[in-house]
Amino acid sequence: MPEAEPTPNPSASRIVARHVAQRYRRAGSRDDGREELVVLDGVDLEIEAGEVVVILGPSGSGKTTLLGLLAGLDRPSEGEIELAGVALAGLDEDARAALRAARIGFVFQGFHLIPTLTALENVMVPLELLPAARAVSRDEAETTARALLARVGLAERVDHYPAQLSGGEQQRVGIARAFANQPVVLFADEPTGNLDRATGGEIADLLFELNRQRGTTLVIVTHDEELARRAHRVVRLAAGRIAGIERPGIERAG
Ligand SMILES: Nc1ncnc2c1ncn2[C@@H]1O[C@H](COP(=O)(O)OP(=O)(O)O)[C@@H](O)[C@H]1O
Ligand SMILES: [Mg+2]
Repeated sequence: MPEAEPTPNPSASRIVARHVAQRYRRAGSRDDGREELVVLDGVDLEIEAGEVVVILGPSGSGKTTLLGLLAGLDRPSEGEIELAGVALAGLDEDARAALRAARIGFVFQGFHLIPTLTALENVMVPLELLPAARAVSRDEAETTARALLARVGLAERVDHYPAQLSGGEQQRVGIARAFANQPVVLFADEPTGNLDRATGGEIADLLFELNRQRGTTLVIVTHDEELARRAHRVVRLAAGRIAGIERPGIERAG
């Protein structure tokens, strides 16, 4: 996928899900379709460019699964998804990876840092995967990665390996890494889940700053009520279905 990136347009950070379902065959079951586990069932959702959407729901309700599908990490059993103006069904795995590398940020619930790389090297990975038109030198990648780690309060931890970092510190490395490619859409799966209140608040501030300054669309799974109050819309998921959508309607900080 060496071609230039498409010109930015208003739909460039929009997300549309139509009738999305995700089903898994239960382990050990026969392939007769009767023993399927239905994880998502008929999800319809449109997220506007520049919107901040929080997804709430009990454990096991399908939040992580939905985020992974919207981000093109996985393919749905049924339904259609458009991400950043592109219909994901038309893309093979490599093309979806290229789209993510160019335009999407993802903060994983389990961090997913590369254990053999330092914090600095982990944050440099997306900078080394940028499309040709935006390629940066190794020195530039390092400078950018150091600045991102400083912003999440880890300037003194750049040379630590993931195993030498606390859960909260690993989470902050994951957030710095997700910002590195200047995504138009950023997905975050419980990004403040392992942080104390003060650090969690700072991370939320960083996310909202990205939204305000660059118009980045944010899709955040969280249990953090404070974060949810700051969203434009809150989507409640229950047993794989959308149970309700609310507008908190409370003035956002900043
Ligand atoms: N790859 C998979 N194969 C089978 N079942 C899965 C898979 N991924 C998730 N599930 C199941 O789907 C349900 C929803 O999972 P998940 O999306 O992680 O929920 P949440 O993030 O809301 O806690 C859970 O019951 C989980 O066990
Ligand atoms: Mg989850």
